[in-house]
Amino acid sequence: MLAVNNLTKTFGQNVAVDDATFTVDQPMMIGIIGRSGAGKSTFLRMMNRLTDATSGVLEFNGRNVLDLKGHERRAWQSDCAMIFQQFNLVPRMDVVSNVLHGTLGRRSTVATLFNLFPRDDIHRAIDILERLGIAEHAAKRAEALSGGQQQRVAIARALMQDPKIILADEPIASLDPMNAQTVMEALRRIHEEDGRMVIANLHTLDTARRYCDRIIGMRDGRVVFDGTPGQLTTGVARDIYGAGDDFSEGATSTEIRDDHEQLEEAERLLAKVTV
Ligand SMILES: Nc1ncnc2c1ncn2[C@@H]1O[C@H](COP(=O)(O)OP(=O)(O)OP(=O)(O)O)[C@@H](O)[C@H]1O
Ligand SMILES: [Mg+2]
Repeated sequence: MLAVNNLTKTFGQNVAVDDATFTVDQPMMIGIIGRSGAGKSTFLRMMNRLTDATSGVLEFNGRNVLDLKGHERRAWQSDCAMIFQQFNLVPRMDVVSNVLHGTLGRRSTVATLFNLFPRDDIHRAIDILERLGIAEHAAKRAEALSGGQQQRVAIARALMQDPKIILADEPIASLDPMNAQTVMEALRRIHEEDGRMVIANLHTLDTARRYCDRIIGMRDGRVVFDGTPGQLTTGVARDIYGAGDDFSEGATSTEIRDDHEQLEEAERLLAKVTV
């Protein structure tokens, strides 16, 4: 389905992605992990042709997408919708119009200029918002929503494109744990119910383990791990992050603990104070 072969991107002397090679034979939910500067964003940007590769091949269903030009390149970009850490919504515009902007690629300039959307598209946008549990906010300005709600609007906008793949670059890095969980669950559901491939750059190990079928670890531009959550042991993780023996998984964790655990911790803290 997806075949990445010797994919490389250099910026001057700096090799951002170094000879990356892996294949994916069915729609999966894939997490890419690695420390800052490992090449995760550059990989996603090459994949949806926001930036050109220096060398290598990236095939999707038998076609090298790195060769696509003009209209074909734009069609590919609409097939692999991108979601960003900062949501990239128009803050003062209402939610449903933000979602409808996901159809801009296939609308005429005149329709775009006058903000005219076909009735069917409006209904579809509302349906998608409903599916993501935020239809009640459809008429509000995007900026009036919480971070987690805004990210779900961004996911709705991506779904308007009916993409085959959703690429998410640190989709939960700006969210509190509760909102992060809602957004990851939304992505997981979209993967399971629609059979879309999801590739997400994630900065926490536990998120990658919990939601992904497969994890790719990058270090200095190279793919140094490719396996299941079960294969991602603490030792392997330490190697991916290039950390020493003092590496703690907790340092990259946003684990949401249940109330019982939180209560225990509160009691522990209280005990310290009162001793
Ligand atoms: N436009 C650019 N021009 C020059 N160098 C770049 C550019 N984009 C990325 N790089 C370099 O490429 C390397 C990989 O960067 P990239 O943003 O892909 O890492 P990342 O894994 O996404 O990191 P982070 O976790 O901080 O987002 C870094 O050394 C970075 O400085
Ligand atoms: Mg990045």
